[in-house]
Amino acid sequence: MNNIASIAIFFFTFAQKLNIENWNMNIGIIGCGTMGAGIAQVAASYGNKVVVVDTNEVALQKASQALIQNIEKLVAKGKLVAESAKVILANISWTSDISALANSEMVIEAIIEKLEIKQALFLNLESVVSSSCILASNTSSLSITSIASACKLPERVVGIHFFNPAVLMQLVEIVPALQTGDKVIAQARAIVEGWNKITVLAKDTPGFIVNRIARPFYSEAIRIHEEGVPIAIIDMSLKQIGGFRMGPFELMDLIGNDVNYAVTESVWTSFYYDQKYTPSFTQKRLVEAKWYGRKSGKGFYDYAENAVTVEYSPTAEMQQNIFDRVIVMLINEAVNALFLGVANKEDIEIAMTKGVNYPKGLLQWAHEIGLDKVVAKLNELHLKYQEDRYRCTPGLRGNLLF
Ligand code: NAI
Repeated sequence: MNNIASIAIFFFTFAQKLNIENWNMNIGIIGCGTMGAGIAQVAASYGNKVVVVDTNEVALQKASQALIQNIEKLVAKGKLVAESAKVILANISWTSDISALANSEMVIEAIIEKLEIKQALFLNLESVVSSSCILASNTSSLSITSIASACKLPERVVGIHFFNPAVLMQLVEIVPALQTGDKVIAQARAIVEGWNKITVLAKDTPGFIVNRIARPFYSEAIRIHEEGVPIAIIDMSLKQIGGFRMGPFELMDLIGNDVNYAVTESVWTSFYYDQKYTPSFTQKRLVEAKWYGRKSGKGFYDYAENAVTVEYSPTAEMQQNIFDRVIVMLINEAVNALFLGVANKEDIEIAMTKGVNYPKGLLQWAHEIGLDKVVAKLNELHLKYQEDRYRCTPGLRGNLLF
């Protein structure tokens, strides 16, 4: 049986189970950038007919060419049979004409991150698609509720938040707006799970699950660095003691300091300037200097071939202190998200292990370290710095959730 046939049978069984009548769906994608193109590839790989719409003709041209190259590479590496590659490519059409989405059963928007522009697009989209079409946004920082509020049928709007690169990352956060209908949530989950993704349900709050809980991984590491500790020691500590695949500075350089800073700033402003999420000037200056990280050749680290690297030999105690400080801040954030009902326990664990590849779930980690020790470390930091960012969540303090 070839790949396409086995995928089709798998999805057909799955669709029957979840009452999706048509496994070969018409999916619309708006925005052919990093995310839109990736999501289009995912949807097309599972037998759907995909129409990608973008206002920029040049971007469409580039994205379609890049997709052909990606698919050809997969074939060359033996990861995809030529026959399937042809089917995937034939499943996708590219256009600047939004009316081509008329027959869509679900449209996923992945355009510029501006609320008014997304709202105008959703309203316009409603005049193109049928009343049963699900309208999804891939926004990482905007309120799904406010996007839905622009629509005549807001109950059909839902957040479907993929991670970059969409083809490889397994996690997808499903974010219902206040107005979203239960059936739409179930359908959106079923469709995305049919694309072999793992979904978690997130409350419509800033940063959803992953982009909120992960903030201290970066911010606490930067703070420690600002106090004089070299970045290489901090990265080494989190990798060696915590088992993280990448240290925070390596990861910020990979994500891009521009992107990472923008997410932090957006979470901070959305939380009414809560001190916990305050961005750092250290990273802001890197962005101003265009030291974005790997993509620009320089970030926290220098990626030039002749760059000088310094070898450090920190003590075990120093490494443990660095790890303790970052991990308790992450646990505090995860427990606070649970306390505030952002997601359930299981989804919080899945989100952090599948969305940012943490070696284990933070709630499990909290138990392994001992809740009393986590609280004691947070209290110690709070006492030392007298800063609100170290405040312990009631969820941990009162042992309310365990
Ligand atoms: P991008 O800048 O790579 O692509 C955006 C595309 O949208 C461009 O091709 C642009 O021409 C097009 N566009 C802009 N306005 C449009 C309109 N009114 N109608 C049709 N097309 C329009 O952006 P990227 O990175 O793909 O992000 C898209 C969305 O996905 C944003 O909401 C972002 O927050 C979200 N997101 C981004 C992630 C990332 O790592 N880049 C991860 C997860 C979500």
